[in-house]
Amino acid sequence: MISKQTIEEILARTNIEPLISGYVSLKRAGDTYKGLCPFHSEKSPSFTVYPKTESFYCFGCGIGGDAVTFIKQIEHLDYPDALEFLAKRAGITIMEDNDKYFRRENRVDRDRVFKMNVDAANFFHRCLMADNPSARAALSYFTEKRGLSLSTIKHFGLGYAPDSFDQLMNYMTSKGYTKDELVQGFLCGKSDKGTYYDAFRNRVIFPIIDVSGNVIAFGGRAMDNETKPKYKNSSDTPVYKKTRHVYALNFARHSCAETLILCEGYMDVIAMHAAGFTNAIATLGTAITSDQARLMSRYTKRVIICYDSDEAGQKAAVKALRVIGEVGLEARVVSVPGSKDPDEYIKTFGKEKFAEVLNGAKIEFEYKMESILARHDINLPQERIRALASLENEISAVYSEAERDVYIQMVATKLGVEPKSIRTDVARIIAKNVRAQRQGESQKAHRTAMGYMDKVNPDFAKAPTVAKHEEAVLGLLLIYPEHRKKVFDGGFLSQDDFFTELGQRIFAYIESAYRSGDVFTDLNEVFSPEEVGRITKMKLTRMNLTDNGDTVLLESINALKGSMQKKKAETASSCEDLSALIARLRSTQE
Ligand code: CTP
Ligand code: MN
Repeated sequence: MISKQTIEEILARTNIEPLISGYVSLKRAGDTYKGLCPFHSEKSPSFTVYPKTESFYCFGCGIGGDAVTFIKQIEHLDYPDALEFLAKRAGITIMEDNDKYFRRENRVDRDRVFKMNVDAANFFHRCLMADNPSARAALSYFTEKRGLSLSTIKHFGLGYAPDSFDQLMNYMTSKGYTKDELVQGFLCGKSDKGTYYDAFRNRVIFPIIDVSGNVIAFGGRAMDNETKPKYKNSSDTPVYKKTRHVYALNFARHSCAETLILCEGYMDVIAMHAAGFTNAIATLGTAITSDQARLMSRYTKRVIICYDSDEAGQKAAVKALRVIGEVGLEARVVSVPGSKDPDEYIKTFGKEKFAEVLNGAKIEFEYKMESILARHDINLPQERIRALASLENEISAVYSEAERDVYIQMVATKLGVEPKSIRTDVARIIAKNVRAQRQGESQKAHRTAMGYMDKVNPDFAKAPTVAKHEEAVLGLLLIYPEHRKKVFDGGFLSQDDFFTELGQRIFAYIESAYRSGDVFTDLNEVFSPEEVGRITKMKLTRMNLTDNGDTVLLESINALKGSMQKKKAETASSCEDLSALIARLRSTQE
């Protein structure tokens, strides 16, 4: 039943640096690699990969661990699924009946859900192509109303959900799927009274496909503009999380373009692909998440945001610029003049004009500069000064000096000001911000050092000095087998010598591994990712001690023993005080 061997094989065949490189762009720094952390937003890299120990740690957010921890977190998988993911990547087959994790009763069989979705997609497509009046109406919605060719319809696997409560259900149950599976996959709903019904009715259907080509969800559009809601989409299911997928990326990733064009809706993407812009993708609505941006960053270096022209779309574009920039992608933005969205623009003005629009894509600063200039009448000196002040603030927030220089030149030209003056102003603003930030940071560093805000080890704050000694001992025990031998065989420490609950658990984990012949259960199975991060840090900080940490170990063990003795003495003396008090009471009573 043990899958330890498989786990070891998976880990042995996985190198952490190339694995993480698939998600984060890493730069070499000595014998480590650094990059922008994929788990929190940051401007300068504190995410570090250690090929030597096959581990990673982010000094900004505290997440760290090994390849399994990384995949668990980045792909949002549980422990067995993360192992399966790495196994597939390494070309290792997992024996279904030998491995304890792969027989879990309630585990969702993702492949079965994918197959169910493909069957449903084929059903919807056949319904669209069928020879009956409602099918013909649906098909003409796509061809006449939306101007799609049959080959585009086929390419995107578009379909039609008939106006019926059970046609899909009957078909799918005849293929062996249970009604509850259909509900779980959002193909059917279930009323309070327990009646099942088709989730999509009388709507044209857009299948949503992930980058590996699996059908993971569906969107259905009403064929008129009166029916509300206009679109009905699958909710999150075991295989679909709306905030983590990008529509049409399965096609766009193969388009060999260095750029992706990001738009809002199904129809924008389809119109663009049909016009030859096969690098178009959509977030399906305007809200973009950093998970989506990170997914894009695996396939491209640059994203052009081309949202709807309305206020909501333009506001969302500013946010998208930030979210996309934060994952290290170059972000640009365009708007389609005189149309509500790119779909309408291409239909009205043609694809050549649209290509010109794309060529005029602006980087974030240009876009911001234009909107600031549009708000001020720069012919009036007072207004010009205000605009300049806003622009200088924007520039001072830019990390790279060379980049700031480019923007300074742009503003100088636009406003007729000496670049030198702008540079002086910007330097002053930066210095002021740095001072403010230092103050904030030193307060934060102090609080962190004292262990307040420590969610992973809430007991830390009660006695930070002792807790640090706990971490030293645990780190050294984890790294060096000889320390384990000494400490456990000599009986130098027990779980009771640790006062934080986390420290006790880690100690118990190391001890039980030692007692069973130094065989460790995977950390990822026993501890939460945050805890694994903390443990990784405990090890990293004690990795390069010259004497294998002998001195530190001794000091820290003494400190732990000392503090426990003090504690015991305190409770003991308070007992004595109590008995003295009672004795005194007695004597006064007599
Ligand atoms: N959307 C949605 N539900 C809605 C409205 C919109 O899920 N009630 C999502 C859809 O993915 C849609 C995208 O947001 O494609 C953009 O919305 P909108 O601009 O309103 O739709 P269009 O894509 O322009 O749709 P159409 O051209 O078909 O009117
Ligand atoms: Mn739109």
